[in-house]
Amino acid sequence: MTFRPRFVRYLCRMAETLALAPDASRKQRYEALSNRWKSLLGNEPNSMANLANAAAVLKEAFDWHWVGFYLVDKQRDELVLGPFQGPLACTRLHHGKGVCAAAWDEATAQVVPNVHEFEGHVACSSLTESELVIPIVSADEVVAVLDIDSVNRDDVSAADVAGLTPLVDFLGQNWKAWE
Ligand code: SME
Repeated sequence: MTFRPRFVRYLCRMAETLALAPDASRKQRYEALSNRWKSLLGNEPNSMANLANAAAVLKEAFDWHWVGFYLVDKQRDELVLGPFQGPLACTRLHHGKGVCAAAWDEATAQVVPNVHEFEGHVACSSLTESELVIPIVSADEVVAVLDIDSVNRDDVSAADVAGLTPLVDFLGQNWKAWE
């Protein structure tokens, strides 16, 4: 075993690998993440650090085209880009237009199997074919949304909402406690 000074071991504590079996089904991946989510994120009080790792973990587990967060900017009454993985994205989204705004305004998950059929869809990437957005609720208020884009049509469903809901709920429950 390689000897590491104590401070190196401390710094490395959060850098866990997911080690999901390559042939694991999507359901199995959600279950594995659900079991690991708290240990991956629960020891760190900084929200940006946790959202950044949450996006990285989801990208690694499912290889979505784009996965990340938009945060409610109360002052400007807009959604502003948060931590994400994937190509360059729109920095601000407004009420009444797009999938993220719908999840924010209606406080419900939006499952969009074909983005070309969603009126007002905001195409940050022309490669996106399907999209899923889940609001993050803290103290009965939407504080952010989790946005997932796929390059495949019909690649999102209620099963994904079910798999992601415990993960998103954890973020909402801890939102106020995190810095
Ligand atoms: N398509 C989203 C915009 C965000 S990007 O997908 C990253 C929407 O319609 O709100």
